[in-house]
Amino acid sequence: MALASPSESRHGMWSSRWLFILAAAGSAVGIGNIWKFPYVAGENGGGAFVIIYLVCVAIVGIPIMVSEVMLGREGRHSPINTMRSLVERGKRNPMWVLIGWMGVLAGFLILSYYAVIAGWAMNYVVLTAAGTFENISAQNAGMTFNDFLASPWQLMGWQTLFMALTIWIVGKGVSQGLENAIRWFMPLLFILLLVLLGYSVNSGGFQQGFDFMFKVDAGAFTDPQIWLIAMGQSFFTLSLGMGAMMAYGAYVPEDAGVGGTVVTIATLDTLVAVSAGLAIFPIVFANGLDAAQGPGLMFVTIPLAFGQFPLGAVFGTLFFVLVTFAALTSAISLTEPVLAYLVEEYNAKRKRVAISVGVLCWILGLGTVFSFNIWADFSVVGGLTVFDFIDYVSQNIMLPLGGLLIALFAVWQLPKTVLQKQLGFESGVKLGLWRLVAGVIAPLCVLAVFLNILWPVVQGFLQ
Ligand code: PHE
Repeated sequence: MALASPSESRHGMWSSRWLFILAAAGSAVGIGNIWKFPYVAGENGGGAFVIIYLVCVAIVGIPIMVSEVMLGREGRHSPINTMRSLVERGKRNPMWVLIGWMGVLAGFLILSYYAVIAGWAMNYVVLTAAGTFENISAQNAGMTFNDFLASPWQLMGWQTLFMALTIWIVGKGVSQGLENAIRWFMPLLFILLLVLLGYSVNSGGFQQGFDFMFKVDAGAFTDPQIWLIAMGQSFFTLSLGMGAMMAYGAYVPEDAGVGGTVVTIATLDTLVAVSAGLAIFPIVFANGLDAAQGPGLMFVTIPLAFGQFPLGAVFGTLFFVLVTFAALTSAISLTEPVLAYLVEEYNAKRKRVAISVGVLCWILGLGTVFSFNIWADFSVVGGLTVFDFIDYVSQNIMLPLGGLLIALFAVWQLPKTVLQKQLGFESGVKLGLWRLVAGVIAPLCVLAVFLNILWPVVQGFLQ
């Protein structure tokens, strides 16, 4: 089937550039910022990790996001068919379409555990509302969390609820209601983070928390794993490398600029992540908790803080509602590439496709549920549980690899006229500069980080 590239997508269009910003920010800002960023930074010693992450967002993430959105807008289909149509039009190697397929797989893997963790946040809505955390001690906050994790049934219940909500929303299509909700909830979430930050500043641990995040000793930069994980985190948090931004880019009107929009989204996303870190780490140090405790970090520290707030149960409940919502808007974008593809390819009903994808993803998600209880001692490789493994491979390998290929394709395989039209660059200098950053520097950074990890393996083989 030859694919034309229409000026509008059959799945609908954002009614303005502003709505695209909202939707893309809704995709970017999620539990990746509030739950994952702090705990992964904590596990990797803070400082160096945070700096590498910030640098990656700026010089790798932003140019690649521009490339990804641009490809979507040029192709106007699901990522797989967008790639097909661009490859056909430019008579390029069909292998490039693998970008689309790998993205679908990565989205699937990520959503499988994303729904489980978002389910935790939902459980915490109920726990906080019931007043469980009022004046709770650090030890009891930890115990509450561990008790919850020990019960596969509870985890499954919340995972199911979150997945059902996601399916229900995506089944209805890009809906007006959702756009309105993002408009209100995102600023509110940010305000609540600032309130928490205010608490942290006065918690007695602020200086220590701040230093943990931003003070670096040079020696910390030598571990290649930290580079890989920090880079992976920058892709994950910006929803890059798996086609979510490409799918959303397909619904962006012709006249909207891409560059400025992308910078806005990346800035918002980074602000949320850094605020979450600055809110959480001081609580860790003020209460003698372990910064490297892993996925439970947010679920122990935040209830602890709200437990001491006046009206803490109310604020705390609102906080977890907003986190759940932020997770929903990200989960929706995780499904969009595969849903749009199935709808295009089989003329299937969105609702049906959403249910099938959701059920498969739910089943895979059981692997994550069990990783925290009955399979906690089972390791796929090198001590990684099923959850760790899925997370590691999707975030640290598939997303950066996808992003690398996306940038290379966008910069070097699209005709120059298309680049000029998409980017709105009249002058050759600007275009040249953009090509240098997105087509050379960003890909080289990703490659360097990959090679750095692979080098010892290669050496091992050579010896
Ligand atoms: N960016 C989202 C978050 O930080 C997760 C995500 C990753 C969403 C990849 C879509 C694609 O929570």
